Amino acid sequence: MRNLMITGGAGFIGSNFTRYVLDRYPEYHVVVYDKLTYAGNLDNLEDTAERFADRYAFVRGDICDAAGVRETIRSYGVDTIVNFAAETHVDRSIMDPDAFIQTDVYGTFVLLEATRELGLERMHQVSTDEVYGHVPVGALQETDPVAPRSPYAASKTSGDLMVLAYHITYGLPVTITRGANNIGPYQYPEKVVPLFVTNALDDLPLPLYGDGLQVRDYQYVLDHCEAIDLVLHEGGVGEIYNIGTGTEMRNLDMTRLILELLNKPQSLIQPVQDRPGHDRRYALDVTKIRALGWEPAHTCEEAIAKTVRWYVENEWWWRPIKSGEHYQAYYRQQYEGREIES
Ligand code: NAD
Ligand code: DAU
Repeated sequence: MRNLMITGGAGFIGSNFTRYVLDRYPEYHVVVYDKLTYAGNLDNLEDTAERFADRYAFVRGDICDAAGVRETIRSYGVDTIVNFAAETHVDRSIMDPDAFIQTDVYGTFVLLEATRELGLERMHQVSTDEVYGHVPVGALQETDPVAPRSPYAASKTSGDLMVLAYHITYGLPVTITRGANNIGPYQYPEKVVPLFVTNALDDLPLPLYGDGLQVRDYQYVLDHCEAIDLVLHEGGVGEIYNIGTGTEMRNLDMTRLILELLNKPQSLIQPVQDRPGHDRRYALDVTKIRALGWEPAHTCEEAIAKTVRWYVENEWWWRPIKSGEHYQAYYRQQYEGREIES
């Protein structure tokens, strides 16, 4: 495992993972294969392209394009695929699920077929805690049933099931990780934490869905990257690993903390109509990944504080995104007229 194809490597977690791997393994080569959708951004990898010019390459391509995937694998002598490529935003999946089915389901199938045909050493699927659906009590293990409730979650679940089916049917060497909410550098500001931080910096309202009492496990992206690395190298083939801090935070408390850290008034919180089918609580049992020797270096609070600092210090990265026409149109469609009286 020395030649990695990191699909979706120009996105948030994929770019953090690419930098992490090149830093950690001086003998590894990485080719990032990414379609550069609205969420893909070569700015996320600018420093990486410079620092690791001899071991890093970028190919613009779609994981649904079987010929493009095979050509890249052959050209770069790829032995391992780590698949981050996906449509990832739940709200967009509610507005327009089509691309989610294409990329998260069909694209995953294309990568599996390429892995099978070209005899790769590993195909790792980066998945999500959303496959388990809403968790009323307790914390779910990898063996618990999946019960996705949004088009995004259903598409990721379908991808997971296909990955497992390829392991069972063809003996494909696969692994799956199911991560809780990631936060940190280079996260597109449609996701709640970067959205709220950047809105607060501009004294704009923070649109909190419903009563804000939904529960998430906000983990630092590099903790997640370390765990994926561990699974790639030490994980059992055919196995699934949950990844998260194993703790919980209410959205309202996350929002209050961001405002406190930025010294902004709590009155910026603007309750808005809830997301349809909103999963109220996610909770992962992380015993299995901890048994491999992994522990997160950050609590949710520390992860939020570090993320807030990054967005304060890196306006060059997010201002062009937020002022762009694509983002502005999305924001209007998503939030206009959605306010509710508190
Ligand atoms: P992101 O939206 O920031 O990035 C996705 C990347 O995939 C972008 O660079 C985009 O251009 C690329 N992409 C999309 N469709 C593609 C296609 N058809 N072919 C090639 N590239 C394509 O996503 P992220 O938040 O970094 O998430 C990465 C992965 O991790 C996803 O699979 C997601 O489901 C999973 N995940 C995310 C989180 C989270 O909190 N963000 C948590 C758990 C799991
Ligand atoms: O749990 C892992 C998942 O986390 C990943 O698989 C997804 O790719 C990623 O988008 C994320 O999904 P969520 O739906 O949990 O993340 P999001 O940032 O969209 O929302 C987090 C919580 O904040 C959720 O309860 C909805 C709420 N929220 C979100 C937005 C965008 C708001 O209250 N207001 C908002 O404007």
